[in-house]
Amino acid sequence: MKILLLGKNGQVGWELQRSLSPLGELVALDRAGDAAHGLCGDLQDLDGLRATVLALRPDVIVNAAAHTAVDKAQSEPERARRLNAEAPAVLAEAAQAVGAALVHYSTDYVFDGSGSTPWTEDAPTGPLNVYGQTKLEGEQAIAAACPRHLILRTSWVYAARGGNFARTMLRLAAERERLTVIDDQFGAPTGAELIADVTAHAIRQLLQRPQDAGTYHLAAGGETTWNGYARFVIETARALKPELKLAVNEVAPVPTSAFPTPAQRPHNSRLDTQRLRQTFGLRLPPWQQGVARMLTEIL
Ligand SMILES: NC(=O)c1ccc[n+]([C@@H]2O[C@H](COP(=O)([O-])OP(=O)(O)OC[C@H]3O[C@@H](n4cnc5c(N)ncnc54)[C@H](OP(=O)(O)O)[C@@H]3O)[C@@H](O)[C@H]2O)c1
Repeated sequence: MKILLLGKNGQVGWELQRSLSPLGELVALDRAGDAAHGLCGDLQDLDGLRATVLALRPDVIVNAAAHTAVDKAQSEPERARRLNAEAPAVLAEAAQAVGAALVHYSTDYVFDGSGSTPWTEDAPTGPLNVYGQTKLEGEQAIAAACPRHLILRTSWVYAARGGNFARTMLRLAAERERLTVIDDQFGAPTGAELIADVTAHAIRQLLQRPQDAGTYHLAAGGETTWNGYARFVIETARALKPELKLAVNEVAPVPTSAFPTPAQRPHNSRLDTQRLRQTFGLRLPPWQQGVARMLTEIL
């Protein structure tokens, strides 16, 4: 089996390099591509992407690349649309042309964040910002062009590698006695490792059971707020490394309005993952498990 992975150095892409490699021959590209072999990995270059799929003829394409800068997308909607909607459309058409399955990631930001019930896959969409709108357009283009797809909607992604929310909280907790962190957005921090491992399982099953193609919600178990997440990070860091000098003694709850941003964020990012767990026979561990593991790695 040949797998083409795009966005190999993102949070999820990096972990996919690990989880997909036992499945077959993995051709992993970042935006620079592989000039020596004439392979394009740049989502801006639609002709290059199409030519790459047609030349490689992979069995599976996994697209982990995207325009993920949510606030920046507000001021560059054309670029966001190119990466999040037009490139996935081209990948879907090319995948269909060569008989490949397409795996793609999307987001809870396709929903409007109202209410407090976890979103099911079939719930009505209503993105609040350009990022969510363009991700939704990408989903729709894939569904229209390539029936053999997995669209995995996830939320609040973190990874040990690179900058992340936990590192930011630990830095601030070392500098300040009081932190203010939003407590009216609800979701589940989801590790890139978990996403990558579930993706590998789901691909294996999809190849045996094409009828399992479709859209699935993939997030860690349980729920919290950014404030609850911050508290957990600080408490766990203190327990793991008592010698850490953390000045913080209060993590005060504040509403989203305390931190105005160009892009509006949904309040309710809860995802109902029952369809994924049932279809693929998987368990999604509580969010604290992955965050504690990530903290053990970075501390
Ligand atoms: N992060 C989240 O909280 C979150 C939540 C829900 C859903 N998702 C979805 O999950 C997927 C993976 O996200 P992630 O957290 O792994 O994102 P990430 O860490 O920001 O990775 C995105 C990758 O896309 C690459 N990229 C940007 N522009 C590109 C271009 N023109 N051509 C090729 N590659 C390009 C980036 O490369 P550079 O590093 O070179 O820019 C980066 O490696 C995305 O579809 C995202 O929408 C993420």
